[in-house]
Amino acid sequence: MIQELFSLDERVALVTGAASGMGRAMALAFAAAGADLLIADINVAGLSATAAEIKALGRRALPVPCDVTDIKQIRAMFARLDSEFGRIDVLANVAGPGQLAKPEDIDLALMADVIHGLTVARFCCCQEAGRRMLAAGAGSIINMCSIGGVSALGRGNFPYSVGMGGVAQMTRELSTEWSGRGVRVNAILPAQVINPGLEARMKADDQLEARFLSGIPIGRLGRPEDIAGLAVFLAADASSWITGALIPFDGGNLALNAGGTPGPSA
Ligand SMILES: NC(=O)c1ccc[n+]([C@@H]2O[C@H](COP(=O)([O-])OP(=O)(O)OC[C@H]3O[C@@H](n4cnc5c(N)ncnc54)[C@H](O)[C@@H]3O)[C@@H](O)[C@H]2O)c1
Repeated sequence: MIQELFSLDERVALVTGAASGMGRAMALAFAAAGADLLIADINVAGLSATAAEIKALGRRALPVPCDVTDIKQIRAMFARLDSEFGRIDVLANVAGPGQLAKPEDIDLALMADVIHGLTVARFCCCQEAGRRMLAAGAGSIINMCSIGGVSALGRGNFPYSVGMGGVAQMTRELSTEWSGRGVRVNAILPAQVINPGLEARMKADDQLEARFLSGIPIGRLGRPEDIAGLAVFLAADASSWITGALIPFDGGNLALNAGGTPGPSA
């Protein structure tokens, strides 16, 4: 009975950013829970590798190269979904632009690109999935957001944080519009999860990891595979009364008051 609540048997999931990191980890977790998958990314070699891992778990994987900032490519991806699977039960919106820039310096064209990628194009994925899920009367949408979408980071994350603020509010609005018709919409708010970009930034600045860790009471950075349980929970019936939630995935970061310092009491 409890296992059934976490089962994705006979369900179809679409995961973007599935070639690496959290998107790959979510796709593999969905497959392990029984789902068949359409996986999308701009990294074609990484996508094939994830597809092979899903097939090794005994599930169907359709890799579709797609730039999720391009509306035409998003619509073509959903057309492939219709012709190959004919349904969608779970959408995980993971990939998105992450350029850094200081607010006093940022070029407005870059600002517009990031906002387009994170809010307009991300919304297009929600809209395409939402229309199909509303017609079926069921579905779960999981938006990858960020601690930067609900709090200020102040490290030149400006365009990204503003875009993620849009993702947070999109999640609340879509949940409120759609959950009464069977479509749940939730978001995940990660703090620092190790990926190649973060590793390069920590290599370039040997103080950076310590600065990140001073905001993470649990005492370590996240790892992509940490997301597996939360992803399956949000996708499956286990979370059937949870919608419109922005769920911290952050080792305790958002609970920490800016004046607080994790560690033993003096
Ligand atoms: N890692 C973190 O610390 C962190 C924190 C908060 C939020 N996030 C969000 O989570 C997402 C995933 O992070 P990650 O650590 O797994 O990153 P990652 O770099 O390991 O993986 C991102 C994947 O997205 C793909 N991708 C990038 N742009 C794309 C595009 N336009 N279209 C399709 N695919 C594209 C990449 O090829 C890559 O496979 C990030 O995009 C970010 O928005 C990450």
